[in-house]
Amino acid sequence: MKESDKRPFRIRSRFGDSDGDNSEPALSGVALAGKALGFSLLVESLGALPRSCLAHTSFLLQQWRESIGVNQPSTLPSPMPFLSAEIDSLRQNADGALQSTTSGTDLEAWRVRYLGANGELKSIMARLKDAPREEKPHLGKCLNELKGHLEEAFESRKRSTSATAQVPTVDLTEPGISLGEGRRHILSRTIDEIVDVFARMGFSVADGPEIEDEWHNFTALNIPEGHPARDSSDNFYMGETGGVKRLLRTQTSTVQIRAMESQPPPLKVVAVGRVYRPDTHDATHFSMFHQIEGLCIDRALSLVDLKTALLQFARSYFGPEAEVRMRPSFFPFTEPSAEVDMKMHIRGELQWVEIGGCGMVDPAVLSAVGIDPEVWSGYAFGLGIERIAMRRYSISDIRWLFENDARFLRQF
Ligand code: DAH
Repeated sequence: MKESDKRPFRIRSRFGDSDGDNSEPALSGVALAGKALGFSLLVESLGALPRSCLAHTSFLLQQWRESIGVNQPSTLPSPMPFLSAEIDSLRQNADGALQSTTSGTDLEAWRVRYLGANGELKSIMARLKDAPREEKPHLGKCLNELKGHLEEAFESRKRSTSATAQVPTVDLTEPGISLGEGRRHILSRTIDEIVDVFARMGFSVADGPEIEDEWHNFTALNIPEGHPARDSSDNFYMGETGGVKRLLRTQTSTVQIRAMESQPPPLKVVAVGRVYRPDTHDATHFSMFHQIEGLCIDRALSLVDLKTALLQFARSYFGPEAEVRMRPSFFPFTEPSAEVDMKMHIRGELQWVEIGGCGMVDPAVLSAVGIDPEVWSGYAFGLGIERIAMRRYSISDIRWLFENDARFLRQF
């Protein structure tokens, strides 16, 4: 034995420690046999250790053999260093436990037990500091290998568990549940069709908020303070913000003001949207409904332009036989003002239907938004969407439009 090979070593096993340096006192034959047998029993389980652990163990065994004078080559696996048995049994227990996990919950419990912050791997790793100095590098390597093994085993089990969980448990050959074909609400379709006609007539689409201030809903539209239209029983007031009273708009005429405030004339816009009035619900009234507003500002416009626009719309939308009738009326924001009726086919018969109001924009409205009424003129109209749809499709109760009963809506 070379001098350099004679370095001291210590073998710690469940049978006690053995100092393997050359200074160890000579052992009796019986003691030697017993020690060798103990060691061989101890190392029987080493077959399960990774090869790098075994290599080191073989080296230690060789040293030990030389120290006790047992020098013939042995087929036994190498002896077990500090912590080896624990590492080995942790690996076996963990592998076994992993095999019996069947659910994500089991798997998580396994992870916590073996790989968790207070798990078994961590606690065995914490004991590395007690290992003899010369064994530490090698043991560290073994423990890292064990860690890698457990993590890899966990990931692969997780993949196979979730793959199993994804297997559908339903009988795919069973007849399915039909969800039915969806369709656009009849009001949405009516709005789109009407806007489409006006767009082809050169109107662009404007928009405004449903929560309005008094200026846009009343004042600028020539509805002065104290006017009955402002009465709280006819409006949904929403309180004040920054000293300004807010309410749900009662008409889309508010967008006329917003359009004129935001762009200089000439302009030609339509605006569609919801309006709100505290009406009691019945077959012809609802507290929310839709209007389409039209506004055209240009030089030298007259009632002829207004009527032409309405007739063009009526013929495009209701058919070539449609007609328009204007009955004198009053609106604060138009002068003169009129109710608009359109003659359309209803169940095969041509009938007059009242669908809104219209007029020439009142000079006071133009002035309110800074447009010179001496230079500019305008016409405006407001039509009820529900009214048009109800007459066109023979719907006799407005409430049906908002109940969302699919049996009703699927008829259109
Ligand atoms: N805003 C009116 C209403 O809600 C309808 C209306 C009438 C609109 C005449 C107009 C108009 O633009 O010129 O009853």
